[in-house]
Amino acid sequence: MRKLMRKWNWLCPPLMMAVAVWIFTLLGFTVWAAVFMALLLVCPAIIIYALVKMTRSKAGLSPETLHTRGMPLDVLAPIYDRYCPLIGLGRAFRQTTIRYAELMSGDSVLDVGCGTGVLTRLAALAVGPTGYVIGIDPAAKMIGVAKKNAVEQGSQAEFRLAVIENLPFEENRFDCVLSSAMLHHLPPDVKMNGLSEVKRVLKPGGRLIVVDVDRPAIFLWWVILWPLLFWSFTEEQVKGRIGALMLRAGFSRAEKVGSWGGFLGFWKVYK
Ligand SMILES: C[S@@+](CC[C@H](N)C(=O)[O-])C[C@H]1O[C@@H](n2cnc3c(N)ncnc32)[C@H](O)[C@@H]1O
Repeated sequence: MRKLMRKWNWLCPPLMMAVAVWIFTLLGFTVWAAVFMALLLVCPAIIIYALVKMTRSKAGLSPETLHTRGMPLDVLAPIYDRYCPLIGLGRAFRQTTIRYAELMSGDSVLDVGCGTGVLTRLAALAVGPTGYVIGIDPAAKMIGVAKKNAVEQGSQAEFRLAVIENLPFEENRFDCVLSSAMLHHLPPDVKMNGLSEVKRVLKPGGRLIVVDVDRPAIFLWWVILWPLLFWSFTEEQVKGRIGALMLRAGFSRAEKVGSWGGFLGFWKVYK
């Protein structure tokens, strides 16, 4: 029963939204007002619940998953590739990230917190057979799916279990590091250690491409995402301090180059 519930628990948020909309319409709200009220109440509640659960509980982690004070995402591994496009992080989003990375044939690239490796495989295509691309993640189930996808698609991308705060690579190794939707998985001190590690493994003049939760540009996102202001993992990012964070980690320059969906920012950061 527990297994079945775990398999279908992703249905809870949409169901809660639907029930809330229904209740508000029964109370006499128009449909649009009911949707707005449901967003106002249900989304922050779901976010707070998910954050508390994910940060406190180690449930759902596979035994091979590496220890980190960040949030490994084993639990989403089986549905991750289907889930991302549903929330707007599909092919166009990935290709935009690759475009900002300006990868060249022969580049060596590290993807930190690579998840199922969608972006890692696109990077491998961009650098061609003379390049080298590796994705790391502490979540054993994510790395398992990433390796399987790479074999099925004939990708040369490699994958390895590792954490950003202790990268198993020599210094000045990579031309480019990609960090897609992973910084918000780290508490502030781990984030700082991880960024210092990224700087260490980048070649002089190398670049880090970050896409992550940033200061919301649309009022609606503030309505939904305000709990992130009170969570140490995201507080600085939501307050719009990604650039300052990068400079504090020792990078020489950080510029925001784009945004996605009004709450994710693309950053280009130089060693
Ligand atoms: C939201 S997923 C993003 C996956 C992928 N980069 C993408 O764009 O789809 C965040 C990933 O960060 C990983 N993660 C969590 N803590 C980490 C750490 N300390 N070091 C590296 N990755 C970590 C999680 O396991 C998860 O796979």
